[in-house]
Amino acid sequence: MKYQEIREKVLEGAVKCLERELIRGTSGNVSMLVPDEQVVIITPTGIPYDKLTPADLPVVSLQGKLLEGNLKPSSETPMHTAVYRARPNVRAVVHTHSLFTLVFSALNRELPPMTPSSSPYAPVPVAPFALPGSEDLANAAVKALGQDRLAILLQNHGMLAACPTMERALAAAEYVEECAQVAYYTLLANNMNPLPAEAVKELRERALKGLAV
Ligand code: 13P
Repeated sequence: MKYQEIREKVLEGAVKCLERELIRGTSGNVSMLVPDEQVVIITPTGIPYDKLTPADLPVVSLQGKLLEGNLKPSSETPMHTAVYRARPNVRAVVHTHSLFTLVFSALNRELPPMTPSSSPYAPVPVAPFALPGSEDLANAAVKALGQDRLAILLQNHGMLAACPTMERALAAAEYVEECAQVAYYTLLANNMNPLPAEAVKELRERALKGLAV
């Protein structure tokens, strides 16, 4: 099967998000770029991930045109493809509606770096609200990601991770959710203490070298 390894990674990524409760039902979507061919493998719209096989995943162009597959690509295809067009180093995009990222996105509040594991991603800015599936949302997401951010929140909608590998995109989705949870509870306790900027800098350098943070 064409693109077998990447198809498997995309589907495994979606199922992992489901198992980790970062995605509920058919919410959220997952994709990867096939770099040599500049095409994208993406989850289809509205189909439970545990009912899919890798062969079911649609293949779309960087402009979002369906190239292969019988299922309709995710309604958020414009956002995924816009990210790949804008950020050549991004190979995997994961969009989740995890609970505490939803809370922070609905507060429309930048998520500070609360934990060492969130330091490669936080502070996580919020892209302004635009209708799901719209070009406006795609543009807002690209703008908030800029040239080097790995994760953003989408106002009243959830989070988006854009990383060089699926493993890192899944880690971003998980650690940003954990960070949002810590931020929320510390905010409730009226004592939110983000990591000091110096510590975030040092931890990011460690993460870039592949060291534990
Ligand atoms: P899809 O099922 O079309 O991927 O949409 C789910 C979603 O979360 C939209 O933001």
